[in-house]
Amino acid sequence: MTTPQAPYPASRLRRTRRTPALRAMVSENVLTPGDLIWPVFVRDGDGVEEPVPSMPGVIRRSVDKVVEAAKEAHALGIPAICLFPYTGNDKRTADCAEAWNPDNLSNRATRAIKAAVPDIAIMTDVALDPYSDTGHDGFVVDGEIINDETVEALVKQALSQAEAGVDIIGPSDMMDGRIGAIRSALEGAGRRDVILLSYAAKYASAFYGPFRDAVGASGALKGDKKTYQMDPANTDEALRCVARDLSEGADMVMVKPGMPYLDICRRVKEEFAAPTFAYQVSGEYAMLMAAAQNGWIDGDRAMMESLMAFKRAGCDGVLTYFAPQVARALNG
Ligand code: PBG
Repeated sequence: MTTPQAPYPASRLRRTRRTPALRAMVSENVLTPGDLIWPVFVRDGDGVEEPVPSMPGVIRRSVDKVVEAAKEAHALGIPAICLFPYTGNDKRTADCAEAWNPDNLSNRATRAIKAAVPDIAIMTDVALDPYSDTGHDGFVVDGEIINDETVEALVKQALSQAEAGVDIIGPSDMMDGRIGAIRSALEGAGRRDVILLSYAAKYASAFYGPFRDAVGASGALKGDKKTYQMDPANTDEALRCVARDLSEGADMVMVKPGMPYLDICRRVKEEFAAPTFAYQVSGEYAMLMAAAQNGWIDGDRAMMESLMAFKRAGCDGVLTYFAPQVARALNG
């Protein structure tokens, strides 16, 4: 009698990778257009589409063109669009009053999109940087970003956005206490359905550079944002930020930037099981586009792989400048 030979190798994991059908059967994550939030830059004017040089393929659009973009996004199955106003220096003041002007660019775009594409969700940004002469997200007094006075202004900004009809407010300012203050002001104003997607774990990152060009803030910004945005060395602190913001009334939370912070996405999702989003920021977009334009990577494949990575890390969705391209690729 001969003993049967021990199987070799003990496990053949390549069996399930052999054909597209088998790979589809064992695929653990899916990316769909429903996972995407598309950030768009809004500027003054009519019929204007102006390229952002540091973000090839990204454009600043006048309100009428933003409405067209929203229609296109909706047709592609993208559930939400996120508005960022480009404001010239004439609208940047020490008191940042343009931030809560009912007729500011962001509010005008919101009303125009709501009228034309009522089914797409509109998200807006709460922070003072588009309106401040310092480029900071809060008021600056004697070189310091003052927290509580800034929160009062953010509340006014958030209420004016809610009044214009936004579905989702995204406070990106990183002041302490702003989620609670905005939530109670919204409740007080009868705006009970407005969602707060808190930029909860937002890092002081070099990857925001092209965005600051896109919104006209790079020239204005004096110094850095390290006294309010997080230190890239920290993880536990991100969990404390998320816990705090959820307890103050955030419905969804965000990790930002995205790709270099997938470990944070994973920990946040596991710890809180809350709707968790990542922002694939301007510098990540610019890096991928630059390498693709140089022929150093296959841009389309790298784009899809980068987005799948967010799903794998546990994210429910991603803010990405690639949103329309990705949706087109997914829709085939
Ligand atoms: C500003 C804000 C920033 C981004 C979104 N909201 C820049 C910053 O904090 O300086 C960055 C987005 C991107 O880089 O794509 N409150």
